[in-house]
Amino acid sequence: MVMKLPLYPDYVIQEVIDKNDIVEVISEHVALKRSGSNYMGLCPFHNEKTPSFSVSPQKGIFHCFGCGEGGTVVNFLMKIENLTFLEALKALAQRANIMLPEANNADSKKEAAIKDKKETYFNINYDAAKFFYKKLSDKDGQVAVAYFKERELTGQCAKYFCLGYSPAKGNELLNHLKEKGYNEEDIFKAGLTSKRDDGTYYDRFRNRIMFPIFNINDKVIGFGARRITEDVNPKYLNTSDTLIYNKSKNLYSLNVARRAKKSEIILVEGYMDVITVVKYGIPNVTATLGTALTPDQAKLLKRYFNEVIICYDSDDAGLEAKKRAILILRDLEIKTSVMTVEGAKDTDEFLKKYGKDRFLSLISRRKSDILYLMDIFGAKYELQKNIEDRIKYIGELLPYLSKIKNDVELDVYIEEIAKRAKTSTQSIYAQLGKTRLIKNGTSNGTQNPTIAPYAGAILTDKLEKTRELLLAVLADNVSIFLKFENELSQDLFENEVHLKLFNMIKEKSKSHHKLEASSVMVDFDENEVGQVTKILSIDAKCDNKSLAVKDYINTILQEQKNKKIEEMLANGDMEGLNALLKNK
Ligand code: UTP
Ligand code: MN
Repeated sequence: MVMKLPLYPDYVIQEVIDKNDIVEVISEHVALKRSGSNYMGLCPFHNEKTPSFSVSPQKGIFHCFGCGEGGTVVNFLMKIENLTFLEALKALAQRANIMLPEANNADSKKEAAIKDKKETYFNINYDAAKFFYKKLSDKDGQVAVAYFKERELTGQCAKYFCLGYSPAKGNELLNHLKEKGYNEEDIFKAGLTSKRDDGTYYDRFRNRIMFPIFNINDKVIGFGARRITEDVNPKYLNTSDTLIYNKSKNLYSLNVARRAKKSEIILVEGYMDVITVVKYGIPNVTATLGTALTPDQAKLLKRYFNEVIICYDSDDAGLEAKKRAILILRDLEIKTSVMTVEGAKDTDEFLKKYGKDRFLSLISRRKSDILYLMDIFGAKYELQKNIEDRIKYIGELLPYLSKIKNDVELDVYIEEIAKRAKTSTQSIYAQLGKTRLIKNGTSNGTQNPTIAPYAGAILTDKLEKTRELLLAVLADNVSIFLKFENELSQDLFENEVHLKLFNMIKEKSKSHHKLEASSVMVDFDENEVGQVTKILSIDAKCDNKSLAVKDYINTILQEQKNKKIEEMLANGDMEGLNALLKNK
């Protein structure tokens, strides 16, 4: 959703922002401590031990340097209370005793209608969960109760997870929901019925154990449904995606796990694994909803936890799933480790067989993702005797190594891998440089081996950092902008958000106005706001700002040139290179 909603004119939104003290509002949710002209605290949007969440009362914005969330007081309220833009604005207007005119244009009506539908679907799913749960006390629900006994699921478990039974007949839930006043189309769109060719409806879930799926705010959004007898297929039937349920964006039992306030989350394969782990008193556990882990789910985990402990089944499929999950988690720079349920096919079986203490000991003996893979691949190959095996070993590890963004960490692992595969660290670095370039699609086999494999990565980091600093100083100093006007060209920037911000600063400066941090936020998309607050929250502390700006501009120009040279080298474009160097 785009933040800019034409509901109210900008000045109305700005008034609401200005009349609410951002420090006061945020303090209701976060303990803030003064630090210079800013306030700092522990970020409420991700799990952290040292404060990287900063609030600037002068600028009217907040920014977390850990997870990248940021924005105005409106954005804060939206995120922390899960509100829409309009809802947050209304709440803040009320707080500051501002009368908002009734917004009634097409957009707000559409937004309200969607919200209404969602509410209805939440209610239908909630009523369905209650219906399935109550069935456990009925006569026909006794097959489910017997099944629970067999799987060692107590009544408490059933209650805690609101497990239930869907009757076999095929119309009981539909009738129940209709009696409650819901219409057939809504029930269908909420995911609880299927449609026959003739347009009539029947219960989607029949004669199955029901696992309600809750979202992070404890709303029932869908179901997983397990067969009771092994002759039925599929084993699990799940809700198809609906307006409120998306299997790749939610996680099972995350609402419970996040309340545990632990820094690690255990990621298991299935619903039954989660329930058993929780039953044994370990609440920080979750599972995907019948798919492999997705980037959206990884982001969700990053928001609440510092480390993901992968605890997948010990079969081949489990290993493949682990490898994919590691790549996804590494991509998002999430600390990842692996524990192995030795001597059992899955977590559920392990706990029942060996008990909680042995499980806790597995947790404490977990291996970092890379170390785990080094061991797994190491066992597959004969590193001591076979030369080809050594090459294959390194080849298998490369995709994972190329995801490591911390140079020190990478160095440590490469050191160890070189030792194990009896090769030099340089050759691994070289290989890594090659695969990186190939992945970016820029290699044509003529690359120059003297280029450090990391030049590219370091370069972009340095460039980005410098651009951010430059924008931060310019946003704060109109006179500096005007002084360097001729040297400040759009070409210094690449990223769209930077460009947009640069042009805003330029426009403001030309009319001798300073950019107001809190007022530009409405011009950026929700997913861009964090990038903007990151820049505007930088405290550009330097004595000589002119000198700094000059330096930033030169650095950017120089780095851009270096990058070009490197590209030309990689492409073997010697002519272009000569021309460029002569230009100097
Ligand atoms: P498992 O087959 O390992 O199931 O699938 P489980 O959770 O361990 O259940 P039990 O112990 O056999 O009763 C793991 C997960 O994969 C999804 C489900 O989310 C399940 O929990 N799955 C599996 C499906 O979505 N559909 C299927 O047909 C099978
Ligand atoms: Mn199982």
